[in-house]
Amino acid sequence: MLKILYTHAEMFAARAAMQGTIGFVPTMGFLHQGHLSLVRKALDENDHAIVSIFVNPTQFGPAEDLSKYPRDLERDLAMISELGNVLVWIPDAKEMYPDNFQTWVEVESLTKPLEGEMRPGHFRGVTTVVAKLFNAVQPSKAYFGQKDFQQAAVIGQMARDLSYPTKIVVCPTMREADGLAMSSRNSYLNPQERAAAPVLWQALQAAGEAYAKGERDARVLVSDIENRINHEPLAKIQYVRCSDALTLADVEGDLRGPAVISLAVFFGATRLIDNISLG
Ligand code: PAJ
Repeated sequence: MLKILYTHAEMFAARAAMQGTIGFVPTMGFLHQGHLSLVRKALDENDHAIVSIFVNPTQFGPAEDLSKYPRDLERDLAMISELGNVLVWIPDAKEMYPDNFQTWVEVESLTKPLEGEMRPGHFRGVTTVVAKLFNAVQPSKAYFGQKDFQQAAVIGQMARDLSYPTKIVVCPTMREADGLAMSSRNSYLNPQERAAAPVLWQALQAAGEAYAKGERDARVLVSDIENRINHEPLAKIQYVRCSDALTLADVEGDLRGPAVISLAVFFGATRLIDNISLG
């Protein structure tokens, strides 16, 4: 069964009437099995589950895909309703960003590299909206995907710094049968691009295997991934980077502690991201 709420007033009232633990999954809709895996976990681990659906305009850059971002609310609600009793909050842009809005939440160091470097202002939009969602939902636990590992790290930092009592839970990346990480943006790919896109996970996995066999030179791992992706004519690399798993600082020499290799690659106009954890 679904309960659907739209305004902050409705969300505050529903929350005040709830007892026990709340598991929260913030989304931008156009749901797939990756999102649903988070909702299932929220239902499993808590007395109540809340999902928000809001395509957050402030996390899109001026040249990005806000107006084209895929939406299908009816399908989203049907998918959620199959999982159990879920409260779905669907605020609109006026509700989130009233006239004369001028307050922002910004995480510093962790937002500088990688996606933060390529998408200026993106994380400021993400942390501001997630802080507002947390304020209304007051979750015990909030669930995020490893696919957006920098986002999960930034939200974890924000939750610590702003003393949210919410535990941030990071869940594994769900993939299509051929390894492509599930993403709402995969719907932009034409058939040729879709057929080419699994090269990302193949390349990351090959690096994971080289690491398992003892390769510790980050430059070797990164350039091997670049070579594999460059063999695919439809793929245009934006970055492939090896980072310290905790600080997200670049690692260019020997890998000593836990690391993550992440990438952003264009297929036509569609920008896909993926990553693999090492150690
Ligand atoms: P969205 O892209 O809709 O993703 C919502 C959540 O689903 C995020 O935590 C994301 O990491 C997770 N997710 C996406 N693809 C996944 C996959 N293949 N496997 C597992 N989890 C996956 O991320 C956002 O929305 C927004 O930035 C948001 C946090 C809602 C703030 O606006």
